[in-house]
Amino acid sequence: MFQIGGLIVFCGLLAQTTALLDTLPLPLDQILLLQGTPVQDLSPTDLAGSLTDALSNGLLSEGLLGVLENLPLLNILNTGGGTSGGLLGGLLGKLTSVLPLLNNIIDIKITNPQLLELGLMQSPEGHRLYVTIPLGITLNVNTPLVGRLLKVAVKLNITAEILSVKNEQGKTHLVLGDCTHSPGSLQISLLNGFAPLPVQSLVNSLTSILTEVLPELVQGKVCPLVNDVLSQLDITLVDSIADLLINGLEFVIKV
Ligand SMILES: *[C@@H]1O[C@H](CO)[C@@H](O)[C@H](O)[C@H]1NC(C)=O
Repeated sequence: MFQIGGLIVFCGLLAQTTALLDTLPLPLDQILLLQGTPVQDLSPTDLAGSLTDALSNGLLSEGLLGVLENLPLLNILNTGGGTSGGLLGGLLGKLTSVLPLLNNIIDIKITNPQLLELGLMQSPEGHRLYVTIPLGITLNVNTPLVGRLLKVAVKLNITAEILSVKNEQGKTHLVLGDCTHSPGSLQISLLNGFAPLPVQSLVNSLTSILTEVLPELVQGKVCPLVNDVLSQLDITLVDSIADLLINGLEFVIKV
């Protein structure tokens, strides 16, 4: 399936190249040689790889890791008791039963922010891309319930949809569509093993609060970064990918 898609893209490019050259059919490598375009620049797999590399590097240079490290988690936990309005207050209002336990948390520090390898998929009709952005952080929870820091690993995937649109001048570019946490991708696990009963219920409370607030919190911080990165991508890369998407040509594995 992947190879067929590759072939279609390849044929499309070949047709274009041939038309441009307006010449007798030549073996492919000679055409490419004449065009001065290295073969690997036209490989669809490379395009996908270049896109994920560019997005990944872009997110890092936009300060993604710092954003993760500075998520205002403690503020959120402290706004419990329904005193704060808005979405988070509303969510926490539903969880009042767990709040007394959370009063045992003195501090939460986020360390080890991580961006793992991005995933890329193409929609079945070929016009959209879905970028999976796997993120990780470690929470160091300071609580008098245990004589040491409680370390909690949190993993979450954000999925960003990328669309190709044409502006009035007929110029294509890439824009961010839906951007949201991937359902079921939140993983919360205790890193430093043994947890006596009170700690276990603290971890459970923490888990239910994090489950309520963290995905939206991360999504709200990371999606604008994705948008920024998309608008700063290399124009040649954007053009190549936008053209493939507009034409619904497969160049990455479909969903
Ligand atoms: C999160 O993203 C990674 C990388 O694309 C993927 O391997 C993993 O299956 C995803 N997890 C979930 C639960 O979606």
